[in-house]
Amino acid sequence: MSKKAFGIDIGGSGIKGAPVDLDTGTLAADRVRIATPQPSTPDAVAEAVAELIGSFDISEDMPIGVTFPAVIKDGVALTAANVDRSWIGTDVDALLTERTGHDVFVVNDADAAGIAEMEFGAGRKTSGVVMVVTLGTGVGSATFVDGTLVPNTELGHVLLHGDSAEKYMASSIREREDLDWETWAGRLQEYFSHIEFLFSPTRFVIGGGVSKKHKKFLPLLDLKTETVPAKLRNEAGIVGAAALAHAEEKALRKAAKKAEKKAKKKAGEKTADAKKSDKKSGKKSAKASTDKKSGNKKSGNKKSGKRTGSSSSKG
Ligand code: BGC
Repeated sequence: MSKKAFGIDIGGSGIKGAPVDLDTGTLAADRVRIATPQPSTPDAVAEAVAELIGSFDISEDMPIGVTFPAVIKDGVALTAANVDRSWIGTDVDALLTERTGHDVFVVNDADAAGIAEMEFGAGRKTSGVVMVVTLGTGVGSATFVDGTLVPNTELGHVLLHGDSAEKYMASSIREREDLDWETWAGRLQEYFSHIEFLFSPTRFVIGGGVSKKHKKFLPLLDLKTETVPAKLRNEAGIVGAAALAHAEEKALRKAAKKAEKKAKKKAGEKTADAKKSDKKSGKKSAKASTDKKSGNKKSGNKKSGKRTGSSSSKG
């Protein structure tokens, strides 16, 4: 049976979801997309997510991974750069788990895309420091050290010309300012040179919708770091979220099993102790009754009784 989980990608304009085959990193069914409600408040988005899940026939125990374009710590959104500000402080994990009735795991959108690229795409089997940078409405980053994610690196917000870099070189800025590829590549050059200087990465993986046009801008960059386009493109968020949900669910199950085993062991030890003490008190009462019969006055003094016993056994 193939490994499956459900992935949902929450973006500024659309919410997309599909079940994912985690043996291959591909969608197990056509994805469904619904427009992100405006304003994109937690309530409205949670409703839309529940509607999306409802359009699939999936079992209740299928874990669901959800991407969100913000810093996510312990399931809580701590920022809201390109979404409604009312998300700040929202326990996204709890909200969506409650609304959907599934175990939901929330992850930063770029981190999810990064997980997908590391498992199934352009970062596979790459050790060292791999940086997946997504160019979209904002700029997201996922940083991996020998395959392990350093979550929420938010490198789209390093300062460039006195403000968040993403306000200068995101893909949305290229569209809004109608920049030609050379001009935009010049901005990317400034950004990536800076990141390269700070982190000396092993590889940059460039993601986001625009990465399908990578031939128009990647050859214009002059970097020391190997720089490659993402492989999963539009589906990276869904696939990465599903992979994360599957891994987290597995880890939770393992931890629960371990705790159960420990509790059983402890209960077993207690029973054994109880048996031992039952045995002891049984022996004691048996001895007391023998002593009573034989008239041994020391029988009440355990210590002296023991000492006597040991010295006598040593002869
Ligand atoms: C947000 C990140 C997000 C990125 C891409 C940035 O503005 O701060 O959390 O990953 O946009 O959506």
